[in-house]
Amino acid sequence: MIKKQLTIFRIISCLFIILIACSEDTSLTTDNENEIEVDIFTQREWAVIQRLSPLPITPPLSPTNQVADNPDAAILGQKFFFDERFSKDSTVACATCHSPFYGFADPEATSLGVGRGTRNAPSLLNVAYNKWQFWDGRADTLWSQALIALEGETEQAGTRLQFAHLIDEYYKSDYIKVFGEYPNLSDTDRYPRGGKPGDHQYDQMSEEDKIAINTIFTNIGKAIEAYERLLISRNAPFDKYVAGDNNAIGERAKNGLKTFIGKGVCILCHDNPNFTDNEFHNLGVPQGMLPTDTGRYDGIKELLMNPFNGGGIYSDEPNVPQRILDFLEPTSIHQGQFKTPTLRNVALTAPYFHTGGFPTLASVIEFNNSGGVPSGFIGTREGTIEPLNLTEKEVDELVEFLLTLTGELPAENLLRKPNLP
Ligand code: HEC
Ligand code: HEC
Repeated sequence: MIKKQLTIFRIISCLFIILIACSEDTSLTTDNENEIEVDIFTQREWAVIQRLSPLPITPPLSPTNQVADNPDAAILGQKFFFDERFSKDSTVACATCHSPFYGFADPEATSLGVGRGTRNAPSLLNVAYNKWQFWDGRADTLWSQALIALEGETEQAGTRLQFAHLIDEYYKSDYIKVFGEYPNLSDTDRYPRGGKPGDHQYDQMSEEDKIAINTIFTNIGKAIEAYERLLISRNAPFDKYVAGDNNAIGERAKNGLKTFIGKGVCILCHDNPNFTDNEFHNLGVPQGMLPTDTGRYDGIKELLMNPFNGGGIYSDEPNVPQRILDFLEPTSIHQGQFKTPTLRNVALTAPYFHTGGFPTLASVIEFNNSGGVPSGFIGTREGTIEPLNLTEKEVDELVEFLLTLTGELPAENLLRKPNLP
């Protein structure tokens, strides 16, 4: 009896919902927004899709770096990027973990440099479109990101004094052409051959000499940024489809796109032409065997403390970045938040998530589909993370759609290790 009443109640409420939906339809959609307009999409859907393409031809300007778009700086930066001498024992370069063969990402879950890291190395394709760098956003510019990698214990583990002498020995004339003169470093009592903050050799230097060394160090990063700004990948099949080529992607990918902007709610966060809101979220990705990771929480702390942040004395335009930094303060909501990554070229950059713990795109979507896991991460999982009830077919189609986001690679000469001096 109760069951029957419930059923009747359900039917009545369903009818009610349908009625509301219908009345909304007639009142709101004056110009047939829900009618099929482009291929399989309604006008409203198509408007959303157009927010995702094309990727602007050039990335946003980088005012904190005067040489960001200087071609000579980029040529120099490409050499630094591939030069293994910029590491503790001349064995590791940026390209060790960001290999052009793997979309400038690392096929290993966590990277092996001078030490073993605890996060997955993202692709550097289109990295210049990012507002923040690193999974925790602890760098607000590309040049300061490079400095962290160059001295990072698990990455290149070199020192800024070592790097300054490398410039002096091998890159002097190229460096001076781009950045101008620097002090004579031959007095190694004044400018020891190695050392960074915390090392006696560096700490005993005069403030003025420290600034001179830090300026060379900064400029290494600025040259690397100029190179990274050229690692642009556009014109994926998806872009060709949005530009009007109906056959650029298949039917299953089109259905996947419908799910991406609809039932899958992926568009909530992967929402601009670089498929990211440039924000941080806690999806509750489990750490597995990796240590606890506070993500954005410690990321903000480190960013604010970093003398090389965009608001500091080594920045070529500190005012605007400083105003942004003034708004940042780590609070409990930042615990366990990680950056929304781009989805362009995502097919090239397995494994996935900040842990590298998910081997395939299907495994990522299954994780989203199940609404995540209850534990294994720090902080509070975002309220929007709920089971999606996608069918197996819908999951497959979503993967098929993600495969259409692989763009054209940058020019061939940018993918090769150049001749080093
Ligand atoms: C030992 C491997 C390793 C080396 C060497 C290395 N990286 Fe990385 N890179 C990583 C990992 C791992 C991350 C993610 C770490 C994190 O978020 O905390 C990363 C993150 C980045 C990011 C941020 C990308 C994003 O989308 O947030 C950039 C840019 C980058 N690296 C550039 C460089 C440059 C330039 C160099 C050389 C100066 C370099 N990396 C050297 C492993 C490496
Ligand atoms: C609430 C915001 C949000 C929503 C909704 C969302 N994502 Fe993400 N996505 C993220 C964040 C944040 C990460 C990184 C999480 C981490 O590593 O801890 C991520 C990571 C990914 C990755 C891994 C990329 C890589 O390089 O490791 C893929 C693939 C992905 N998302 C696809 C999707 C798809 C498909 C959907 C819809 C079913 C979706 N996302 C919905 C925020 C979101």
